[in-house]
Amino acid sequence: MNELSNVANCDASTPVISAVSIDLARNFPPPCPLIGKRLGLIFSELDGAATAGAIRFPRFTGTTRDRAAAAGWVARRLGVAPDPERIVLSNGTQSTLLMLLASFVQPGNILLTEELTYAAMKPISSLFGIKLFPIKMDHEGLIPDALANACITLRSKARALYCMPTLHNPTAATMSVPRRAAVAEAARRHNLWIFEDDIYGVLPEAAPPPLQTFAPERTWYILGLSKSLAAQLRVAYVVAPSETMARDVFWPGVKTTNWMAAPMTAEIATLLVEQGAAEAILESVRAETNARQEILRNSLPSWTIRVPPFCYHVWLDLPPGWSAREFEQAVRRKGISITAGDSFSPISGEFAASFRVGLGAPSDHQTLRAGLNTLNDTRNEIAPADKAKRV
Ligand SMILES: Cc1ncc(COP(=O)(O)O)c(C=O)c1O
Repeated sequence: MNELSNVANCDASTPVISAVSIDLARNFPPPCPLIGKRLGLIFSELDGAATAGAIRFPRFTGTTRDRAAAAGWVARRLGVAPDPERIVLSNGTQSTLLMLLASFVQPGNILLTEELTYAAMKPISSLFGIKLFPIKMDHEGLIPDALANACITLRSKARALYCMPTLHNPTAATMSVPRRAAVAEAARRHNLWIFEDDIYGVLPEAAPPPLQTFAPERTWYILGLSKSLAAQLRVAYVVAPSETMARDVFWPGVKTTNWMAAPMTAEIATLLVEQGAAEAILESVRAETNARQEILRNSLPSWTIRVPPFCYHVWLDLPPGWSAREFEQAVRRKGISITAGDSFSPISGEFAASFRVGLGAPSDHQTLRAGLNTLNDTRNEIAPADKAKRV
């Protein structure tokens, strides 16, 4: 166990019982030695004077070069490279969502989300006095009829849909093509904006095309780099519904939030993409993810594991007698962190018997195996509810 860190869980209400030595809570891409090599190369070739110039001034929505590289990278998902004028480089997905919520949802209104959603959506929305309304999901993710019914009930208060159609976090569900078409159609019928978070969308070797391709006129497509290349390479490529919107929605926010990409990070992202290093890193993240999935299957032999290839987050159910919060605390006492299911639900206490494991944060296979073995051993102990019955 070589990961002595005191990792805070994403739900602040969870008491920290002991120092965490194996982090299965955070959802980071696995380490990949190639990143260090390619970064070393980039730094050794950087032109000091040019870089000093690049960090003197803000980079606003990205330089022409940044946006050309971005267009090339998003083409792998959209099928064609969009006009760079429709692209905004931002300081990651989270910052982008802040801007979109402020512009399109606004206080007192409602953001629709999948019933399990990115855990940051709750605190981000509450900053703006925006309520989240969860939409039922099945094995493919968001259910279009449930979305349409919510729009009818909530009327004009429901302004936008935030969703993750590919490798949904935390369930790893991926919408089929017909599902995507139906979701886009419901959004169009009920005049919703779509905030499509495709941050895990480049991980699979082949994934259905984004919702953006079904409803480009209303979709803000966001392709962050932090889940495919390196967790703290916080740059997102945002494709706006039009050139005018890209300009108008982001410019007024220049002085109000921290959405603009940091120039040095943007420069590195652009070089990685331009030099083909991003592609090579992605390949190695995929391979390492699949190797870690193998360790997962071997370490949890009797668990039901539903995770598609190339996905490093796994949604697991507990047997009767365990709640995820109790399980989280039991493993935390042994130095392991996981994320209990209700952290992802807009409604407290929902999904209380499931939790998410991230396979990417542990620095090596041995550490990952040790953490997973502890989960397995703990699940085989007498469940708290059964213990209570015996007393
Ligand atoms: C679904 C989802 N979107 C966005 C993010 C964060 O993205 P960024 O680093 O681009 O802000 C995360 C991080 O956990 C995530 O799980």
